[in-house]
Amino acid sequence: MIGVFDSGYGGLTILRQIRSLLPEYDYLYLGDNARAPYGSRSFDVVYRYTLEAVRALFDRGCEMVILACNTASAKALRTIQQNDLEKLGGEKRVLGVIRPTVEIVPTLTRSQHVGVLATQGTILSRSYELEIHKQNPDISVTGVACPMWVPLVENCEYDTPGADYFVKKRIDQILRIDPEIDTLILACTHYPLLMNKIVKHTPPGVRVISQGDYVAAALRDYLRRHPEMDCRLERRGTARFLTTEDSAKFLENASIFMPGCDIEVEKIML
Ligand code: DGL
Repeated sequence: MIGVFDSGYGGLTILRQIRSLLPEYDYLYLGDNARAPYGSRSFDVVYRYTLEAVRALFDRGCEMVILACNTASAKALRTIQQNDLEKLGGEKRVLGVIRPTVEIVPTLTRSQHVGVLATQGTILSRSYELEIHKQNPDISVTGVACPMWVPLVENCEYDTPGADYFVKKRIDQILRIDPEIDTLILACTHYPLLMNKIVKHTPPGVRVISQGDYVAAALRDYLRRHPEMDCRLERRGTARFLTTEDSAKFLENASIFMPGCDIEVEKIML
């Protein structure tokens, strides 16, 4: 199976895009809903939680895990790849969502000024800035943390008038810091749920980018380039779901992120 991990429901926006591009594979999703959000947690805590989740997915038969969470990708991916993967099963792989997103940035911006909207953890890690500058050091990157956006989504308040206030506040802030921004990256997998509000408060001419399509395309390319991994993956077109919170609650909220999808959920302890 291909494991897909997020602190909560946000990774479902990535899973949905991955499944629409690669429907033939088997997926196992894990949301650490009991401990979400991760956004303001320290490096050590995010690393420890993420490692526990990766181990749980490997133990249940995943050959590879996508960290469908920018905060986990920013704070834990590198360490897991460098220090833990060998012990966890040398042939297994863990991939993140930052690299696939960053790779397309130079093709999107004309002004060479981009904005990154993300959790506090992702912004403080400066991962986007560092990765974008590896591609093109001339691109100016401004990051703004949006601490209220994940709670709005996790509490199903993403389409309410209250959401307008918090969305507008951060978009105004980032465009005030750098009015030349022409590309805004939604660098948190929860944020696509706020897309209507984000577009509403973003001036025309500024493009808003969400990650799902790019992560899905990067996974397809990865599997093409790594037949030794591809041949280990089963293809029955299934998706199963794990949560560390109540399974009925997960089921109810997950239907918002994956409308029309019939899902089976199991509660686990990490
Ligand atoms: N969905 C996660 C991300 O992409 C963050 C949510 C959280 O704060 O737990 O960063």
